[in-house]
Amino acid sequence: MTKIDDCTLVLFGASGNLSRIKLIPGLFRLDSLGRLPEKIKILSVGRSDVKESAWRDDIKSMLDIKFKKNYDAKVFDRFIARNFYHANPPDDENAFKRLSERLSDASTFPQNLAFFLSVRPSDFASIVDLLAGVGLTDESKAWRRVVIEKPFGTNLETAQALQKSITKHLKETQIYRIDHYLGKSALQNILLTRFANHIFDPLWTHEHIDHIQITNNETLGVGERTKFYDATGALRDMIQSHLMQMLALTTMEIPVTLSPEHIRAEKIKVLESITPIPLDELRKHTFKAQYGRGKVNGEEVKGYLEELENPASVVETYAALKFYINTPRWKGVPIFVRTAKRLHASDTAIAIKFKKSPLSLPDQADNWLVISIQPKEFTRFEIQTKIPGLDTKVRTVAMDAPNRITGDESVDAYESLLLNLMQGDQSLYLHINEVEASWRLLDPVIKAWNEDKSPVFTYPAGSADPAESKIIFDKPEQFWRQSIEIGENKL
Ligand code: BG6
Repeated sequence: MTKIDDCTLVLFGASGNLSRIKLIPGLFRLDSLGRLPEKIKILSVGRSDVKESAWRDDIKSMLDIKFKKNYDAKVFDRFIARNFYHANPPDDENAFKRLSERLSDASTFPQNLAFFLSVRPSDFASIVDLLAGVGLTDESKAWRRVVIEKPFGTNLETAQALQKSITKHLKETQIYRIDHYLGKSALQNILLTRFANHIFDPLWTHEHIDHIQITNNETLGVGERTKFYDATGALRDMIQSHLMQMLALTTMEIPVTLSPEHIRAEKIKVLESITPIPLDELRKHTFKAQYGRGKVNGEEVKGYLEELENPASVVETYAALKFYINTPRWKGVPIFVRTAKRLHASDTAIAIKFKKSPLSLPDQADNWLVISIQPKEFTRFEIQTKIPGLDTKVRTVAMDAPNRITGDESVDAYESLLLNLMQGDQSLYLHINEVEASWRLLDPVIKAWNEDKSPVFTYPAGSADPAESKIIFDKPEQFWRQSIEIGENKL
């Protein structure tokens, strides 16, 4: 276990959803696992004037909800004593000065400080300015780190502007850009499966791989986030960050070591090697659609436009793109990336289809390797074997390797992220070059989609991929790989 320095976590936006559902319960879990530094303090910062005792009661209610009141009383007492509240009213000119004065009490607050900005993205730059203005980003006596929640910019230009602004005060080693998918154990498993099993390495090339599919589908709709979503769309919301990270982990070269620097360097290299989507062939490389009214898990649900109450929106809730990576390893291998809200099943996976065997038998199917991220964490390899009997016939059987077995720890992505933050390990956080590479690829597509006001394809909520999406495939025999049931030998 890496030793963690005593530190103070300062949570901006502490009364918001992320903090209530993930951060505070996540810190509590880490405390109960004995993974927090002994003297850690958590200072929650909010706009309203809340008494410390009331905030502590509020924390109790967050934990009661999350853990159904089932937690250790001793750990609770220890955890609650670590928690403090600080009001930072937006109209108080001296708010940050008062914050700095409060934090300077070293007998209460360890002086290594991590600021977690779970606030509106438009406030990231100004909060960093204000923190720096009162000396809170100065590392001359102790470390100072700042966590920036997703999204880091809404396009290349705004990402670069944000970067320019925060690097007036912070070094790259102080900036922790979140992509919560990197905190998922199943995503970390991609690298380990690839590089801890030498058998995969020789197969991982254009000579053997027909194509790769990187998928995130959800049965959920946009929920209450209609305004945010309509200004964002599926491409920005999911592909720019989470799916491009899955792509990078799947296709990067082996890093020299598993150090954060080496892993990030390889991810950056592969992201920067992706060929930009040709805008004059947009329709062969990209597809977008929007969900209409339908039925999900037997329940009638509204269409996107009804939820939004704006019949004119052409913002996508389904996005599929095709990329090529311009390296000798990946020459000519299409990588299909897709995401959707309100599809018939929730499924996040990487599916790799291998090239056909030279032998051709009746009913012979292809070999697939599927690394499933959620809802189940497992790796499946599908091979052809003989059907016992008098005829020479084959069928697909699956070699399933569950990544999780009874008794394994279940760690939320934010728990890993918070731990890495305190350890000063940036491997689960984004480097600015990854963020920029991703925006550079997607910006032109987003722009072209925004300018295209032609009617958008629709799919009924709860259905499979819209048939029209197949337009981006290279060959008629390519198809969208659907979610799979474990324990069955059928597709
Ligand atoms: C978020 C997106 O970043 O990730 C959401 O904004 C999406 O739209 C969510 O639903 C998915 O995360 P997870 O961990 O539930 O797969």
